[in-house]
Amino acid sequence: MTRETWKTRAGFILAAVGSAVGLGNVWRFPWMTAQNGGSAFLLLYLAIVLLVGVPGLLGAFVIGRRSKRNPVGALRSLSDGSRWWAAFGMFAVVTTLLLVSFYSVVGGWFVRYTAASVTGSYFGHAGAYFSAINYGPAALAFAFVFLAATAAIVYAGVEKGIERATKVMMPAIVVLLAALAAWTFTRDGAGAGLDFYLTPDVAYLRAHFFDILPAAVGQALFTLSLGTGTMITYASYLGDERSLAADAATIAVLNTAIGVLAGLLVFPLLFSFGLDVGSGGAGAVFVSVASAFASLGTVGRLLGVVFFAVVLLAALSSSISMLEIPVAYLVDEHGVSRAKATAGVACLVAIGAAACALSSSVFGLLANTLVNLLMTAGLCGFLLFVGWVLGSRALDEYRAGAGDVARAVDGPWLLFVGVLIPVFLLFTLFTSVASALGVPLGTHVLGVGLGGSAVALVAAIVVTALAVAGLRRPGSLV
Ligand code: PFF
Repeated sequence: MTRETWKTRAGFILAAVGSAVGLGNVWRFPWMTAQNGGSAFLLLYLAIVLLVGVPGLLGAFVIGRRSKRNPVGALRSLSDGSRWWAAFGMFAVVTTLLLVSFYSVVGGWFVRYTAASVTGSYFGHAGAYFSAINYGPAALAFAFVFLAATAAIVYAGVEKGIERATKVMMPAIVVLLAALAAWTFTRDGAGAGLDFYLTPDVAYLRAHFFDILPAAVGQALFTLSLGTGTMITYASYLGDERSLAADAATIAVLNTAIGVLAGLLVFPLLFSFGLDVGSGGAGAVFVSVASAFASLGTVGRLLGVVFFAVVLLAALSSSISMLEIPVAYLVDEHGVSRAKATAGVACLVAIGAAACALSSSVFGLLANTLVNLLMTAGLCGFLLFVGWVLGSRALDEYRAGAGDVARAVDGPWLLFVGVLIPVFLLFTLFTSVASALGVPLGTHVLGVGLGGSAVALVAAIVVTALAVAGLRRPGSLV
């Protein structure tokens, strides 16, 4: 059987952007930003997207295009059959199962808000409405609707399902977010929201660096769909003539722009409606836009339907990219039919979704802390693989189809993915585990001194060095 490939360059870009742009931008980004100090978070997040996200995305593309396989098959075949690497690929597959579980619950909220906009049910009590519907049996029912829609598209196959959905959604979401944000700027109090979001707050960043760091890393990876194998799988359908670097840059820029745009909408809204930024939690986007639509009466109903429906489309093009991973694994590695694989995976996810929809603490743990940790660990492993198992083969793959600019930085890129980013990601993991255990890390960046953070940094360097020593083989660069 020949493997499907993307029909056009736009097909891949659209699908990969479709995976990246989703609830992570519109729902999770405002939540994380609000919870972690606004502009301080934004600053760190943007730096991480640039320095970790873009090179990391390229790493995933290299693995995918080189192997033309799902993450498990990819790591196994490129490491000449290593069981350990195959097991690491499985770790990524399991991560996507967990992600899509809570993602379905949030998708369900969007389904519900689309319907509720028609009747205006949340008008007049945006906050109370969200608290009433977020968890429980009804939330579970809506999550199942979202999950069923995801499974239906995945069942339809890579090209037909994914390319079509994404083409409609992308321009619509940009226009809607921009138009709504522009309207928001005209409201009293919007300036304070913009200030919270955009005026760099270095003092806050220094004082809370170690609290913000894992969230900023996790959010950057989440929004770029990194560390789960999604981008590996998508790139596995890619032809050799493409510049991976150009694609990675395009995807990162488009995706980041949409997240930043969502912030430009949410924060001015929260402030202008006198809503407390911090208290919204996972409901920040719902509470803020619901207040806006309510203030617009009948027009608001119409806008509400359009807004929630468009975000729903964006959510679907992301959730299909998650469900696709375990399905592609079963189809490629175990010869299961696409129909059976999709049905089986959907049933598994339904169990996870039930746990998240019925318990706010399970939801909170998964959607916040656990996601940050799992994706950080996932990307770290993938990049060590690129740097030290693929080595010169990674460079060959990177160069295929690349333009002059991308070729000029191939060496530094490999240094980033093989050494610097793994050290940084391990440092992030160690500090977040240490702070969860109550170990003092130093109160601010300059407090690195002799505090726990210095120990974490040394540990990250040592673990990376050990990993490199263990993984290095002929073909590795040093
Ligand atoms: N990037 C998606 C979003 O921002 O909504 C979420 C996501 C999709 C994460 C696919 C991970 C993944 F593998």
